[in-house]
Amino acid sequence: MNLLPEDVDRYMRSLAEGGFFDDPSLLEMEALAAERKFPIVERMVGATLEMLARSIGARTVFELGSGFGYSAWWFARAVGPEGEVTLTDGDLANARLAKDFLGRAGLADRCEVFTTSAVTALVAIGGQYDIVYCDIDKIEYPAAFAAAAERVRIGGLYICDNVLWSGKVADEENDEDETEAIRQHNEAVYSDPRFLPTINPTRDGLMVALRIS
Ligand SMILES: C[S@@+](CC[C@H](N)C(=O)[O-])C[C@H]1O[C@@H](n2cnc3c(N)ncnc32)[C@H](O)[C@@H]1O
Repeated sequence: MNLLPEDVDRYMRSLAEGGFFDDPSLLEMEALAAERKFPIVERMVGATLEMLARSIGARTVFELGSGFGYSAWWFARAVGPEGEVTLTDGDLANARLAKDFLGRAGLADRCEVFTTSAVTALVAIGGQYDIVYCDIDKIEYPAAFAAAAERVRIGGLYICDNVLWSGKVADEENDEDETEAIRQHNEAVYSDPRFLPTINPTRDGLMVALRIS
């Protein structure tokens, strides 16, 4: 799941070292992801998430699909001690690991972790957020955007990972269910007048859509 040419990817990764990139909790999560082949957003996208959140002064983030807390680690840094990051994951073991990692990183004060179906939780909890971030099973992407759109405040961001799906979305012969669901999702965001969408092709494609109305 990496769309950049290998040498460009290597170059970008070589820049993302030292300083906060060497935080022990971040390195531990990255090591766990590598060991388990667990799909975290990785550091280039992680830093993008934090930069985006800081750039709009985000204080509230709702995550659909938090895994063991890697993407939330970046959001939690951005929102600061007064902020709130809501994590959701259907897997209890992931949710427990997320609590542990974020606790040891000193970020637990601003994080709430729910073990639940992410879209159902977003609908049930309601409210509005500065950022809604989507990284759940791809088949659920259309439902996720449908539920998220009104939950993003005007001036806030809907962010979604894997929207280029290893380039499969551009392969006209690929009619796999997940690819079709991502295409449907992307078209829904692009045709929604409430949002100004972009796709950053780092790693597997990160959609960033600003709510404008
Ligand atoms: C790609 S991983 C998330 C990685 C995380 N965002 C990160 O970068 O660290 C997807 C996670 O979403 C969870 N998941 C998938 N579909 C879900 C759903 N409908 N509701 C809740 N969790 C879901 C999986 O258990 C998995 O942990």
